[in-house]
Amino acid sequence: MIVFNTISETHKYLAALAYNNKSIGFVPTMGALHSGHLSLVKQAREENDIVAVSIFVNPIQFNEAKDLKGYPRNTEKDLSLLENLLSSEDFIFVPTVEEMYPKPVDKKYDFGALGEVMEGSSRQGHFNGVGIVVNRLFRIIQPDRAYFGEKDFQQIAIIRKMVELENLQIHIISCPIIREKDGLAMSSRNQLLSSSQRKNAGILFKSLSDAQSLSANHTVQETCKIISRMINAEPEFDVEYVDFVNEATLQSINSWNEADSIRCFLAVRADKIRLIDNIKIYPFSQ
Ligand code: PAF
Repeated sequence: MIVFNTISETHKYLAALAYNNKSIGFVPTMGALHSGHLSLVKQAREENDIVAVSIFVNPIQFNEAKDLKGYPRNTEKDLSLLENLLSSEDFIFVPTVEEMYPKPVDKKYDFGALGEVMEGSSRQGHFNGVGIVVNRLFRIIQPDRAYFGEKDFQQIAIIRKMVELENLQIHIISCPIIREKDGLAMSSRNQLLSSSQRKNAGILFKSLSDAQSLSANHTVQETCKIISRMINAEPEFDVEYVDFVNEATLQSINSWNEADSIRCFLAVRADKIRLIDNIKIYPFSQ
């Protein structure tokens, strides 16, 4: 694998690949790689001639300065993990902030209702920052396919919308959530949890899994309350939201028969660390 830090050296390399008609699968990341990221890389490796991975902690998608400062970074380790999966022609793009943002950024996306709910309303400006960086990365890497994990399910919807708004010809491939043994969705932020927070974090997946059975004999509102209570009963966790939504629009539902496809989303605070997760719900016929 080859590591590039600048756009110009990446473009030079891409020109040769385009000449040889090679397909490119792209995995954008903010580093601190875990098995979830690596599963995306493996899928990209199977489906493309060339795999590109970016490692860039994007400052403009953080709505809390402390979160940006404390975001885990370990590029050396990331590169050694990728080395085991990538071929000699694959490449990693590791730009600096100055390389990505030589001038102040003022672009404002309108993602419509998709951007106004859940992470969109809890983290002001977050999706705009994601849209801007992913658009820039797509224009630099020019992939045929880009791979994203469903832990950030709403982010995938936002990126699909950005691709439509920017009129890009890139297939967005959504990949299943990879979980730890106790069900905790893999996330770079998990390593920031204290040992006791980590020990109890299985409650997030347990409550999401219970949502399925609860939906048999409880209303949407009752199920939301029960799940929130379960999580809040753990002293170290505070629910920010639990929401049952129409998977296609990401808008809240009020009854189980209101949408063909339903997903339950949650955001939970463990002191300064914010965890998110989601699960598909298969409602029992009412
Ligand atoms: O999901 C992430 O890690 C980031 O939001 C992404 C897509 C790499 C953009 O910075």
